Amino acid sequence: MKFLVLNGPNLNLLGIREPGIYGKGTYANLVWTIEECARQEGVEVEIFQSNHEGDLVDRIQAAMGDCQGIIINPAAYTHTSVALLDALKAVSLPAIEVHISDVSQREDFRQISYVRLACVDTVMGMGFEGYCEALRRLKARLS
Ligand code: DQA
Repeated sequence: MKFLVLNGPNLNLLGIREPGIYGKGTYANLVWTIEECARQEGVEVEIFQSNHEGDLVDRIQAAMGDCQGIIINPAAYTHTSVALLDALKAVSLPAIEVHISDVSQREDFRQISYVRLACVDTVMGMGFEGYCEALRRLKARLS
């Protein structure tokens, strides 16, 4: 079983960026955390981060025929991107939306999620562990 794990803009700056909200762990720490839980769950993961919407769309399309599911933290594109929503709908792979912070408790503009319309589940407010929770939930759905 192989999952694509996508991270959107500014998540490469984890550890530097608003540590009071996103924690002190770096993006490298996040990648390590995901790889470690994937190893424990016996799932293969391809992990990709980009600050560019089109690159994320390209990766979603490329997952077709290669991955069985998608874990996506679209970051700010969560709240703006119809292109990511359409890409997820187009590939018809089960996808879980992840947010490190609890967006439900934040600003009004963060209450809109376009990608959620194409996701089977959402995990938020669990920090880096949220990615592992999403991986386990996706694996359970597919098993
Ligand atoms: C985020 C929440 C988004 O609102 C924000 O734009 C991000 C990160 C999160 O992981 O909590 O960049 O997706």
